[in-house]
Amino acid sequence: MSPTKEIYKCFGCGRSGNAIGFLMEHEKYSYVEALRWLANKYNVTIEETETSPELKQIRQVADSLYIINGFAQKYFSDILFESEEGIDIGLSYLKERGFREEIIKKFQLGYALNKKEAFATEALSAQYNPELLVKTGLVVIRDEKPTDNYRGRVIFPVHNQTGKVLGFGARIIAGNDRAPKYINTPENEIYVKSKILYGSYFARQAIDKAEECLLVEGYTDVISLHQAGIENVVASGGTSLTPDQLRLIKKYTSNLTIIYDGDSAGIKAALRGLDLALEEGLNVKLVLIPDNEDPDSYVNKVGASGFRNFLEANKKDFILFQLEVSLRDAGRDAKKKSEVVNRIAETISRLNKAEDFTRQQDYIRQCSELLKIDETGLNTLVNKFIRERVSKQEYKNAAENASEYQDTETAQIPDEEDDASLLLRKDELNEMNIVRALIEFGTKSWDESRTVADHLFEEFETNGLNELFDNKNLLKIIDTFKTWYEAGLDPGPKNFLYHEDHSMSSLAISLMESPYELSVNWKEHYDGPMPGREELYREEVLSTMSYLKLRKIKRLIDENQRDMEKIHTVDEQMTLIQTHQHLKQLEIEITRQMGTVIFK
Ligand code: UTP
Ligand code: MN
Repeated sequence: MSPTKEIYKCFGCGRSGNAIGFLMEHEKYSYVEALRWLANKYNVTIEETETSPELKQIRQVADSLYIINGFAQKYFSDILFESEEGIDIGLSYLKERGFREEIIKKFQLGYALNKKEAFATEALSAQYNPELLVKTGLVVIRDEKPTDNYRGRVIFPVHNQTGKVLGFGARIIAGNDRAPKYINTPENEIYVKSKILYGSYFARQAIDKAEECLLVEGYTDVISLHQAGIENVVASGGTSLTPDQLRLIKKYTSNLTIIYDGDSAGIKAALRGLDLALEEGLNVKLVLIPDNEDPDSYVNKVGASGFRNFLEANKKDFILFQLEVSLRDAGRDAKKKSEVVNRIAETISRLNKAEDFTRQQDYIRQCSELLKIDETGLNTLVNKFIRERVSKQEYKNAAENASEYQDTETAQIPDEEDDASLLLRKDELNEMNIVRALIEFGTKSWDESRTVADHLFEEFETNGLNELFDNKNLLKIIDTFKTWYEAGLDPGPKNFLYHEDHSMSSLAISLMESPYELSVNWKEHYDGPMPGREELYREEVLSTMSYLKLRKIKRLIDENQRDMEKIHTVDEQMTLIQTHQHLKQLEIEITRQMGTVIFK
């Protein structure tokens, strides 16, 4: 069997996905990254004719930009370490700031001579294309002549996740008020600012290990912290976090700690994007660096362990921080305060879908303390927001199903919430429904030899629990069920509803209360009296499980498609296309299966 076939055959159908699963688990690769790695390893070659000319063109430009940047990086490093000006000005500046030689080398820092066309001359005589040189931002045309854009500056290369140089930040040395402090690479085929996290190449493993990503503003913050042995750190480049950057972080870890300094202008902007972070399921903490220091200067002052201790002692939860700020704003104004209560309840209610039930409970407790209100009251308010969304959701589902399958007029739906979050809520309910089915019907028979539980555990095994469930709290229930079931104890609903672990029983209650969806199609296509859930449990399990799998596949398709929009080699592109086809096939199969379940 060809390695390619083997690779593409496996996902979702659960067979021979081992290598990929391994890579995803151990290298924290996404599915597509893992595939690409494998394709690369097995040397999958694809004919050039497969890609469109436009794509080929873009890719060629991108490849060239990488090559020029690689050349420039080496050039600037050489200048820093080997030229007189580089050593006297660049290197001594960096050393004065406390950077040691090994860290300077690791981050491949450099120096640009204070001359008009030192680099341009070098690059042109090495036969690099002038237009492309301009594209990299290393060279600008002045008076019709290729001229160096960075002069007398320290150079910070910006690496992509595989260590290739995307562009540069060039920092001024002399305190010249007129010139900008940094000159950055302009946007081009490979330098897309909104998708860049400075330092991610060097931080990735440490983030994995620490299960936390620290975010700072600047180049020098990242490097200084690294030098102090704090390596799980990236920089946003002083602007607000973009959705792409958040997604990138979410790929590494769910725990984001933002470190900022008091007078930093960036912080306000950075905080603006953070509602999105919560919805992405990121657990956001804030740390304020005191006394007009920034992380760079502060770690130099207090040392590595001092810095670490400071972080641990001063981490503030983002939601609680926001609450404190708005409470302070509200002061004694009762109306404003009640607005604050409502807003915080709304925020907490959204956390629900972002996977953590216990977290939600924690927030309710902590916020009610801060607000000096009754915890049960806040809980009720949060539930109200959830319920409101759920009922809107149900309405929407019904309308969707009706129009999807029967081709009737599209129903008018109140359009207060965007589709994406409604969809998320639907997914959340889906997860809850499968667990609910497990505790309600687990011990019923599935086929001659197996129970519903046997069947579901097989499905979980094949598809991977962690892959299937975003809400990790549900895993706790599944786990408990399994323990009871295997020990011959009764794993029925009662024992969950009255479980002594409060978080378990609360979750079970919300599960049992979650709206159970009997497909509209049943009502339409079933003659005679409507059967109850008791009779339809097999169908319920089948269709709920199918939806869960379908969702996983759709997610992979999306991820793959997002990846396709980026720049790739021909091989990579081909891999992506094949992945797409395979996933689509799976999608069709499951959809078909769902169809038969629904219509019988
Ligand atoms: P800082 O001014 O904090 O820079 O801006 P820094 O990297 O910490 O440098 P030092 O410590 O003052 O030497 C934070 C980030 O904002 C971006 C850069 O990415 C910088 O790292 N920035 C800042 C610019 O792009 N242009 C500027 O003119 C200033
Ligand atoms: Mn700084």
